[in-house]
Amino acid sequence: MDQIRVTGGKALRGEVKISGSKNATLPIMTAALLAEKPVTLTNTPLLQDVRTMAAVLQALGAKVILKDRSVIIDPTDFSRAEIPYDVVRKMRASVYVLGPMLARLGQARVSLPGGCAIGPRPIDLHIKGLRALGADLQLKHGYIEANARKGLRGAEMWLEGPSGSSVGATCNVMMAAVMAKGTTVIHAAAREPEVCDTAEFLKSLGARIEGAGSSTITIEGVDRLDGGKYRVVADRIEAGTYLVAGAMTGGDVKVCDCRPDHLETVLEKLAEVGAEISVDETTIHVRGGNLSHPIAIRTLPYPGFPTDMQAQFTSMLSVVPGTSTVTETIYPDRFIHVAELNRMGANIHAHAGVATIHGVKSLSAAPVMASDLRASAALVLAGLIAKGTTHVLRVYHIDRGYESIEKKLSALGAQIERVSSRQ
Ligand code: EPZ
Repeated sequence: MDQIRVTGGKALRGEVKISGSKNATLPIMTAALLAEKPVTLTNTPLLQDVRTMAAVLQALGAKVILKDRSVIIDPTDFSRAEIPYDVVRKMRASVYVLGPMLARLGQARVSLPGGCAIGPRPIDLHIKGLRALGADLQLKHGYIEANARKGLRGAEMWLEGPSGSSVGATCNVMMAAVMAKGTTVIHAAAREPEVCDTAEFLKSLGARIEGAGSSTITIEGVDRLDGGKYRVVADRIEAGTYLVAGAMTGGDVKVCDCRPDHLETVLEKLAEVGAEISVDETTIHVRGGNLSHPIAIRTLPYPGFPTDMQAQFTSMLSVVPGTSTVTETIYPDRFIHVAELNRMGANIHAHAGVATIHGVKSLSAAPVMASDLRASAALVLAGLIAKGTTHVLRVYHIDRGYESIEKKLSALGAQIERVSSRQ
């Protein structure tokens, strides 16, 4: 297993180009199964999760070609309606195939995802929404056995979850509803940019969707969806991660080809800590060097502060003087990075969904274990400022969601390298 070795102490300087969004690419790839003709996606990121999703679609009968940063999907022979446990266990987003399977094949047998490093990952809201559209879903032996042989029909529904809305449930139901008979209204819909991008993609194929980005989405069912070409939106979490890297190293970094309007709460919190931020249409410029104000963060559904940026901020706040707090309302257990940061000399106490961070003067390098995607990125960020060389093990977690993180950081002046397990 590869590891990343990073030696702290360098202020990052320069420009970094942001890749396409992982969390838009994955639902959009499954939505391509709804098309009658081939679909070409561009600006897709070179990530393990995209390769895994390609394999999932191929197993279902679709033809998929990954060519540099584009994905060509021909769904003509999409005919298998089953996804086994070992696939869903590896990548929870595989459950996005439920909607297209029911819409195109009228049946589905998909494993329940179980939990992961950030906590339980239920899909009760996916099931609630699909049942509202007339599908019959039963849970048997760890699998969802679903059928909609009589076809799907539009319905009004509330997809309210314990922490507000659900990105996955909103995408899955939207994909099932675009060819249902009649009108579907989704209340308490997720507003994330990735949900909007999935809606825009479906509309480019001929779907009739209004209100994506608001908490009420209205869908008029159509008989068929065409093929087409679509450019995936920039990854706001990758962009946010490099902004934090620039700020916490006291650097001067320009994050390019991104969507500043998708990062408003993140930029607000960076400025509150003391970073200098300036933006234009597709670029965000961050200058660190004076991170002297402790802050309070509360993760919320979009447009609130994103849970996927929580670990990175926890890393940065570990060396900000004073006491900061991070309240995790989406995944209360999402503090697996805290123990590793404390091994590097941080002083953080996480309990019942709240991390209290007492800023320390500096961190010290240590061998640390990556666990989940964003926690792993947070440990690399900590290594950028720790005294000595930090070895981050099990970097396959990072490769799921960050394209060549060590190359992009090295181009900004970080002393970082990937060491393959053979060495
Ligand atoms: C998406 O996961 C993202 N993944 C996650 O990013 C992200 O953290 C999450 O949205 C929240 O923004 C992808 O897009 C592939 P949810 P998803 O359904 O759809 C509860 C990353 O690091 N819930 O919005 O699974 C759930 O337990 C990943 O890139 C139910 O209760 O998230 C959580 O508390 C990690 N019932 C909350 O809702 C359900 O049926 C939000 O979950 C579904 C969810």
